[in-house]
Amino acid sequence: MDAQGVHIETHPREGEPVFSAGRPDPCTLVLFGATGDLAERKLFPALFELARSGLLPDHFAIVAFSRSKLEDASFREHVKEGLKKFARTQPLDEAAWKRFAESIETASGGYDDPEAFQRLGQKLQDIAKRHKTGGNQLYYMATPASTFPQIIKSLADADLLKREEQPGQKPWHRLIIEKPFGHDLESAKKLNKELGAVLDEKQIFRIDHYLGKETVQNILVFRFANAIFEPLWNRQHIDHVEITAAEAIGVEGRGGFYDETGVIRDMVQNHLLQVLALCAMETPVSFAAEDIRDEKNKVFRALRPIEGGDVPQHVVVGQYEGYQEEKGVKKGSRTPTYVAMKMNIDSWRWQGVPFYLRAGKNLKRRLTEVSIHFKSVPIGLFSGGGATCQRLQPNVLTLRIQPHEGIALSFESKIPGEDVNIGGVTMDMDYAESFKKPVPEAYERLLLDCMRGNATLFARQDSVEQAWGYITPILQALETEAGGTVQTYAKGSKGPDAADALPSKNGRRWSTL
Ligand code: BG6
Repeated sequence: MDAQGVHIETHPREGEPVFSAGRPDPCTLVLFGATGDLAERKLFPALFELARSGLLPDHFAIVAFSRSKLEDASFREHVKEGLKKFARTQPLDEAAWKRFAESIETASGGYDDPEAFQRLGQKLQDIAKRHKTGGNQLYYMATPASTFPQIIKSLADADLLKREEQPGQKPWHRLIIEKPFGHDLESAKKLNKELGAVLDEKQIFRIDHYLGKETVQNILVFRFANAIFEPLWNRQHIDHVEITAAEAIGVEGRGGFYDETGVIRDMVQNHLLQVLALCAMETPVSFAAEDIRDEKNKVFRALRPIEGGDVPQHVVVGQYEGYQEEKGVKKGSRTPTYVAMKMNIDSWRWQGVPFYLRAGKNLKRRLTEVSIHFKSVPIGLFSGGGATCQRLQPNVLTLRIQPHEGIALSFESKIPGEDVNIGGVTMDMDYAESFKKPVPEAYERLLLDCMRGNATLFARQDSVEQAWGYITPILQALETEAGGTVQTYAKGSKGPDAADALPSKNGRRWSTL
């Protein structure tokens, strides 16, 4: 029973998964940025969890590449210390660690040093023999975006990145590229061009960790594996959609990076637009990567542009108090740490249905969710009753992405008694409770998919450019007076009050944070 007393039963099915891409190929993963924060907090913990659960290929090795000199033994110790803090399963499984540690080797040198890349090549040949990886190579770029072009060039010059001429070619070379993928439309196009000069699109995996979250993947299952929701999923029944990504933390020592980036580049251009596309896309022809990515791309193409003087009508930006005192942030910075937007999708399905997005740091609490607000009932059958009769609340379907992953549906119900009194109740499904198993980390799934060559959960060239094409004019307006003022908001608040005007102009309001 949940808090509101609605009982949920789960019926997990036994047997083969509905969709499994099989076991990953043997390979060597070369990790650029191996001493960085992302590697310590997310990538090594994800790789370790995969190793511990027996999901990595039987023949697998990691080469940790860094500009600073690394020694195998001391680097392994550094990884172990990180795992003690960040591994998903605690305490650290020592036996699994011992096996995992043996797969880690190191390499170092400047990203523009041809000799360092020659040495890397020799190491990879040697590893291919020792670990029987068949020469498959996966490069992970967990470095600052400014270094991507140089690393790609050095890999290509050393003949370590070979274009795939035919599908399924072996050994394969793949590249995972971290966000931010470009800074605006022009730089994203340039980076795509540089990648395209060396690699086929099938070899490029633009990572967006939101797509690896179980709850984000479940959006498609929820929509297309149930017959009752999809007929309602359109302008006839839905009043508006809200997508929220609120964080309780600030810039966390990343002030320098964040000040150049801001919340729109950091969260909206990638994570939130991807979530929006999954909620708004049409039914794909199949569950294959290209069919899903085609449909998502159509959503991006249908986004109604917001430009110039229109921006303040649709976009409210804010900065938390004390942001300018953060290390690395420029005094007088106008970089937003909060954004709220009203977006429209000019498609048959979504005409007249606004999508409200908001994201920010240092807000009241951590909450990422999508809420689908249905239309009100057409007539007020219950409104003529006694004084106790309440205004009916429209149904809301909430897809809780994190924390407390789950799905909730609110509806109206008669409160027991002689009078007709109506109250709201919520049916609530909680992932952890329903399936009795921990929800895997996004990076685990994404790393595995890349080793399997499955690009479904990665962003394709055209959609990255479409998303930047939509966002860039908004960023440009915000950099000038035309974009309006940057509101200040208190740490721990719901964000600037000015954001309330976006839905309230149409008689709506944000869900409570
Ligand atoms: C990252 C952003 O991509 O996503 C961070 O760079 C942000 O600023 C993070 O904190 C949020 O991810 P999650 O998984 O915690 O919602």
